[in-house]
Amino acid sequence: MVKDNSCKHIAIIMDGNGRWAKKRGMPRTFGHKKGAENVVNITRAMKESGVKYLTLYAFSTENWQRSEDEVKALMDLLREYLDKEFKEIMDNNVKLVFIGERYMLSDDIREKIEYLEKTSKDNSDLTLCIALSYGSRHEIVNATKNIAKAYANREISLDDITFDLISNNLYTRDIPDPDILIRTSGEQRISNYLLWQLAYTELFFTNTLWPDFNKDELMAIIEQFNNRERRYGKN
Ligand code: IPE
Ligand code: IPE
Ligand code: MG
Repeated sequence: MVKDNSCKHIAIIMDGNGRWAKKRGMPRTFGHKKGAENVVNITRAMKESGVKYLTLYAFSTENWQRSEDEVKALMDLLREYLDKEFKEIMDNNVKLVFIGERYMLSDDIREKIEYLEKTSKDNSDLTLCIALSYGSRHEIVNATKNIAKAYANREISLDDITFDLISNNLYTRDIPDPDILIRTSGEQRISNYLLWQLAYTELFFTNTLWPDFNKDELMAIIEQFNNRERRYGKN
């Protein structure tokens, strides 16, 4: 049995904020607030686990279709998170990166994330990648356009189009593929997340709603991952 289970990268679909709030008779935005607070807890736990990359699905390109009020509340929470957590991020030697369709974001948020990326770029204990206005199909279309342009300009030939070239044209070019994907809230789907990058990722689904997902459950998943056999198509 071949085991190659050093986990470098965990990707999470943080789902279930709305249901968490509904269960308590509260508005969905209250769930998002609790969900944002939990990002801080899980980032701390990740640092302790020694896993080097964490990618969090915070807002999908499809989430722009939610009600105006909910989108506004989510963007306000994001602003608050970015302002409030920046000190903790720097103190903990965390490098912050963002993946997604930046042109859809408001100017102030785009400027903020560019500033945070620039300021934290030399931090090295953990890379926290936030998928924001992110859709994997958009990412793949974008990569395809870049590659087509390079081909049309005769910078590359057809034989240069390889797995690596495609990976290097994705927003995740500097990040290894995830070893573990976790989706909370009981849904068992990918929802346009990292479609290319998840080719051989181990999948974990939990019924826990995101605001309740904690360090113990994270550690239990890493432990289960360590006991899984990854085969990559081989026998
Ligand atoms: C995840 O929680 C957060 C975002 C998608 C922004 P949801 O808002 O999807 O919560 P549910 O799935 O409705 O419970
Ligand atoms: C996926 O959750 C996106 C995020 C967690 C940010 P959704 O709640 O938007 O996904 P669907 O609609 O259930 O597939
Ligand atoms: Mg959801």
